[in-house]
Amino acid sequence: MTHTTSINSTVSQLLTSIQSHSFTVGVVGLGYVGLPLAVEFAMKGIKTLGIDIDNRKISSLVRGENYIQDISNDNVRTVIENGTLAATTDFSRCGECDAIFICVPTPFTPNKDPDISHIVHSTEEVAKSLRAGQIIILKSTTFPGTTTKYVQPILERGGMKAGRDYYLAFSPERIDPGNKHWHTGNTPIVVGGVTADCTTLACAVNQVIIEKIIPASSPDVAEMEKLLENIFRSVNIALVNELAQLCDRIGVNIWEVVDAAATKPFGFMPFYPGPGIGGHCILIDPYYLSWMGREFDFETNFITLAAEVNESMPFYVRSMIVREIARQPITMDNAKVLLLGIAFKRDVDDLRHSPALKVAELLFQDGIKNVSYYDSYIPSTNILGTVVNSEKSLTAEVLQQHDIIVITTDHTDFDYEMIVRNSRVVIDTRNACKNVGGDKSHVVLLGDGK
Ligand SMILES: NC(=O)c1ccc[n+]([C@@H]2O[C@H](COP(=O)([O-])OP(=O)(O)OC[C@H]3O[C@@H](n4cnc5c(N)ncnc54)[C@H](O)[C@@H]3O)[C@@H](O)[C@H]2O)c1
Repeated sequence: MTHTTSINSTVSQLLTSIQSHSFTVGVVGLGYVGLPLAVEFAMKGIKTLGIDIDNRKISSLVRGENYIQDISNDNVRTVIENGTLAATTDFSRCGECDAIFICVPTPFTPNKDPDISHIVHSTEEVAKSLRAGQIIILKSTTFPGTTTKYVQPILERGGMKAGRDYYLAFSPERIDPGNKHWHTGNTPIVVGGVTADCTTLACAVNQVIIEKIIPASSPDVAEMEKLLENIFRSVNIALVNELAQLCDRIGVNIWEVVDAAATKPFGFMPFYPGPGIGGHCILIDPYYLSWMGREFDFETNFITLAAEVNESMPFYVRSMIVREIARQPITMDNAKVLLLGIAFKRDVDDLRHSPALKVAELLFQDGIKNVSYYDSYIPSTNILGTVVNSEKSLTAEVLQQHDIIVITTDHTDFDYEMIVRNSRVVIDTRNACKNVGGDKSHVVLLGDGK
């Protein structure tokens, strides 16, 4: 009874300090997820400490310089200058924080098995200064059981117990870089604590910056629901990618088909085809679950099939390009191909696992030496060991100097009228030229059945 009373009073004291904003937040991993989160707390006046192993990121933050496209440079400068946000590589300062978010990468190995080493290493660092009353919230996307079977045992090596001495929860991130409407504050999130008190405290911490929090009964549920969200996208995109290839054979326009189906007011959600999927989430996360399934003698067929179709799309686009080269009075050797947009999706500067990059690599491997690109978000990149710079600007002259123009990423800063007007052949993998008028006989659209 005495014990229960003391737990409750600790929880209520912590709740009071969270609700009165008199607590300190730590964010471990200051990338696309962590930095916006840290800035959001700091903008609310919460003392925030950002921790990363990347010296360059910490140095730019210390100078007040932002490196994440979605957050305002002014906000970063303000919170650094007024001291609400501090940035360090020194993990021993974790002890200063009452609530610590872990937002480190969860990539896969070359064989596409989960690599949770960043979670393990950062948790080991956090564990060194773990103290009673701290709440740790893992945000990195991962397979069910990571919080309780990997993170919790590391944190408890010193004898502390989750829900009794410290608190532990999983709360997946839903940030959608480049999305102008949905941002950290107005996107609901799910929180699953190791105990009910853990959930209550993790909800309270998130409530400081997020309008709606949905408690889940366990970290496993929260881990699994995040994977479901991303697998749902992967499977539906794969479905239209497969149908786009069928439509190309049977002579029906998939884009018109999807738009027509989307007029149904219930039971249908439109997904569109493209050159493949990329980024740090939809391509990788499903593999976390298929890997886990194998341990339980369970083949996740939907995941595998979706991955197979989506990952074949850059190869399909390559075959479209090669076919168009064959139709011109040029050879593979001297063909000049210009890719428009190399980022993995529209209006972002993120190149991770970009299908456009894969298309470029495949063309290089095919012996097409003159492959260039234009992307105002990505000034230079590395294609199979060769540094390639973006064209400085997208002018009529640049377009006319190339034989084949491929719209790989449909950035909104492209002038599609100008592109269609000044190109000999346009391969449009995103239906980006949909609203361009005039002669489009030289535009080859993925999945339009022509
Ligand atoms: N990017 C997105 O849109 C998005 C959306 C939802 C979920 N997620 C998930 O969030 C997690 C983070 O993704 P991200 O896109 O922010 O990755 P990121 O690569 O942009 O950032 C991760 C940061 O963690 C740092 N880091 C790596 N190891 C560390 C360690 N041991 N200690 C401290 N810092 C370390 C890196 O230097 C980097 O700055 C991943 O699990 C990802 O799947 C990402």
